[in-house]
Amino acid sequence: MLSIHQLSRSFREGGRVHRVLDGLDAEVAGGQRVAVMGRSGSGKSTLLNLISGIDRADGGSVRVAGCEVSALGEPERTRFRRAHIGFVYQFFNLIPTLDVAENVRLVLELNGVRGRAARERSLAALADLGLRERAHSAVDALSGGEQQRVAIARALVHAPQLLLADEPTGNLDDATAREVLPALLGLTRSRGTTLVLVTHDETLARAADRVLELRDGHLQERTLATPGTVTR
Ligand SMILES: Nc1ncnc2c1ncn2[C@@H]1O[C@H](COP(=O)(O)OP(=O)(O)OP(=O)(O)O)[C@@H](O)[C@H]1O
Ligand SMILES: [Mg+2]
Repeated sequence: MLSIHQLSRSFREGGRVHRVLDGLDAEVAGGQRVAVMGRSGSGKSTLLNLISGIDRADGGSVRVAGCEVSALGEPERTRFRRAHIGFVYQFFNLIPTLDVAENVRLVLELNGVRGRAARERSLAALADLGLRERAHSAVDALSGGEQQRVAIARALVHAPQLLLADEPTGNLDDATAREVLPALLGLTRSRGTTLVLVTHDETLARAADRVLELRDGHLQERTLATPGTVTR
C-alpha cells in the first residue's frame, strides 16, 4: 500500500546541508496502522510531507496505492492527495468561518461531490465520531477533543486509502487524547484504511499494529517494552 524506497531530503541551514532523511526505506501493508516515533527534529513531519507529496524529495521514491507520487507533477500530486489521502494535524486546522458540517463537506466538494450526496456523507462521517448533534455548531464552540474529532471526520469523509496523522493528540490533555485516539484507530481498522500516525506518546503508539522509529534519517522497527491498555 505504501512503499518508500531510498528517500532522501536535505535542508540547507546557513552554510551547511542538514540531511534529514537519508535513504529511508519502508513498506506498509494495506490496512496496517503504523506509529512513527522519534525525537523532535528527527524528520517525522518531513516524512509525512513527502508521502503526501506536499514536499518533494531530493532522491528516492514514494508509492501510495500503486501510484508513484514522487514522480507526479504538481497538479497531479494535488489531485492525488485530495482523492486518496486524509490528514489529521496537531492543531486541528479547521476553518473557523465554516460550521462543523461545512468543514467536513469541503473535502467532498474539492473532490467534485456536491449537493445532497455531500451533505449526507458529511453528516454520516460526523455521526461516526459521535458529533451528529454538533453539525451546525461553530467550530470554536467545540472543545479541543471535539474539534479533533471533527478533523478526523473531515479526514475520513472521502474514504481515503491512506490517513496521515501528525501528532493528532499533541494538543490535547491525556484524558481527551485517550478518547480521540480509539476513534482514529477503530475507524481506520473497520474501514481497512492504512494509517501512519506520528506520536511522541508510547502509550498511544502501543495501540498501533507496528511501531517504527525515525532516527539518523532512517526508519527502524521498534518494540515497546510493556503491553499497553489503550482500547483499540
Ligand atoms: N522547510 C524547511 N526548511 C529548512 N529546514 C527544515 C524545513 N522543514 C524541516 N526542516 C528541518 O528538518 C528537520 C526535521 O524537521 P521535522 O519538522 O520533520 O521534524 P519532526 O520530527 O516532525 O519534529 P517535531 O517532533 O518537533 O514535530 C529539522 O531540523 C527542521 O529544522
Ligand atoms: Mg513534526
